[in-house]
Amino acid sequence: MISLKIISGTDRPNSNALRVSKYVQGKYRQEGISTDIIDMQEFPLDQVVGGKYGEELPEVDDFVEPAVTADGLVVVCPEYNGGYPGILKIFIDYLPFPNSLAKKPIALIGEANGAFGAMRAVEQLQQVFGYRNAHIFPDRVFISRVSENFDDKEGIKDQFQQQLLEDQINGFPDFVKNLQEDPSFITDG
Ligand SMILES: Cc1cc2nc3c(=O)[nH]c(=O)nc-3n(C[C@H](O)[C@H](O)[C@H](O)COP(=O)(O)O)c2cc1C
Repeated sequence: MISLKIISGTDRPNSNALRVSKYVQGKYRQEGISTDIIDMQEFPLDQVVGGKYGEELPEVDDFVEPAVTADGLVVVCPEYNGGYPGILKIFIDYLPFPNSLAKKPIALIGEANGAFGAMRAVEQLQQVFGYRNAHIFPDRVFISRVSENFDDKEGIKDQFQQQLLEDQINGFPDFVKNLQEDPSFITDG
């Protein structure tokens, strides 16, 4: 059984990222795959104020550890000012370098109230995860106009976007398993 973690990519209270994360978790559960959500609201920000890079930070280590040990990550990310939220960059910057993300399969879901569903934020994440030698699952999802277009029980109202989400949820576990069985399944990075 593979272990997947879903990262809810903002610390904004009552975020759409967390709503989408919970929905995606339910869909994986239907596929027989249990997941946990790593919620950026819970990041121990007080522990890193002032720049504590390289220091022993047990609370931060405990927080990031599930992502480090996961077989694959699903990142749900809103768009803030044409990019991804700062808290998500802080989280990434406190992941152990270089091994925590190297060869890690990562699926990306963007959500925003704009027309492009956080495409800019997702593509910026691809750049960062690419730098860290992660394996990005090619089927990305962009949820546009999320406030009207997403329902906690039914998912995305736009049928095309919903199909993309279901395709990602159906395909990502095999992508993770294939990489485990044959690391040369993908040769990039
Ligand atoms: C600080 C901030 C900046 C935002 N910037 C953008 C933006 O650049 N493009 C966009 O489409 N929506 C933008 N929005 C709207 C959010 O993408 C939208 O409300 C999204 O659902 C918020 O995600 P969240 O509920 O997960 O925090 C912004 C919202 C916030 C709070």
